[in-house]
Amino acid sequence: MDYQNIIVETRGKVGFITLNRPKALNALNDALVDELGVALDGFEADENIGCVVITGSEKAFAAGADIGMMAKFSYMDAYKGDYITRNWERLKTFRKPVIAAVAGFALGGGCELAMSCDMIFAADTAKFGQPEVKLGTLPGAGGTQRLPRAVGKAKAMDLCLTARMMDAAEAEKAGLVARVIPADKLVEEALAAAATIASYSLPVIMMIKESINRSFESGLNEGLLFERRVFHSSFALDDQKEGMAAFVEKRKAEFKNQ
Ligand code: CAA
Repeated sequence: MDYQNIIVETRGKVGFITLNRPKALNALNDALVDELGVALDGFEADENIGCVVITGSEKAFAAGADIGMMAKFSYMDAYKGDYITRNWERLKTFRKPVIAAVAGFALGGGCELAMSCDMIFAADTAKFGQPEVKLGTLPGAGGTQRLPRAVGKAKAMDLCLTARMMDAAEAEKAGLVARVIPADKLVEEALAAAATIASYSLPVIMMIKESINRSFESGLNEGLLFERRVFHSSFALDDQKEGMAAFVEKRKAEFKNQ
């Protein structure tokens, strides 16, 4: 595919996507989000890929959904077009881990896109916010749902109701962000973490992602049961035999993703 709004690369076993609408601070229009879906489809199908990193520019991961595009929407445009669901939910069904490497602004849909990833690495320049209230609307891509799960009700209310931005240090303290990294090392560290993840057994990595995500959908007992069943199923993998044999034999495991 000839991508116009993102750059799609591979770095070894890592899929690397750069949001690339610099003049609009990577505002997320349909074309960009559709391209993101196509890139993710490709990385899902590629057995060599074990993890994906999504990043933006130094100034902005993404400054939100494209306001120019939305400004003209009628209710029917939004409803019939199933805006936000139609082409925004591919990340939710993507089965391999995705790291958002965020520098600069991650606002509105940009913050929601980052939260749709499995973890966020933030540059020390990152700023997170849900400023939709200033536009006379509200978050529409998960901000009112994923943010409170990540940072708790009080801070989610604060960000969504006042539109204030949260810097990287506050975001890490609140639990939104896995790591804060000097801006000039952000992509390097995200790619290194992704390469580490991709060096493990892909089915096990997928099982871990699925199990952690299940914890947000179920009560503790159901979640523990799900985890136990998946744990038991890992004993059907050659990679489990290899991983444990390698430990006993004091050598590095060679996983074959089966
Ligand atoms: N949509 C479309 N264009 C955007 C944009 C957006 N979300 N954010 C920035 N841009 C454009 C600006 O219009 C500007 O374009 P021009 O040069 O053609 O005028 C360019 O990007 C640079 O922006 P600024 O000049 O404003 O840059 P700044 O450094 O002064 O300010 C900013 C940066 C604080 C991020 C500011 O651009 C801003 O507030 N952007 C909007 C943030 C926002 O409201 N996001 C939420 C969108 S709604 C949403 O996301 C709904 C949802 O839940 C899915």
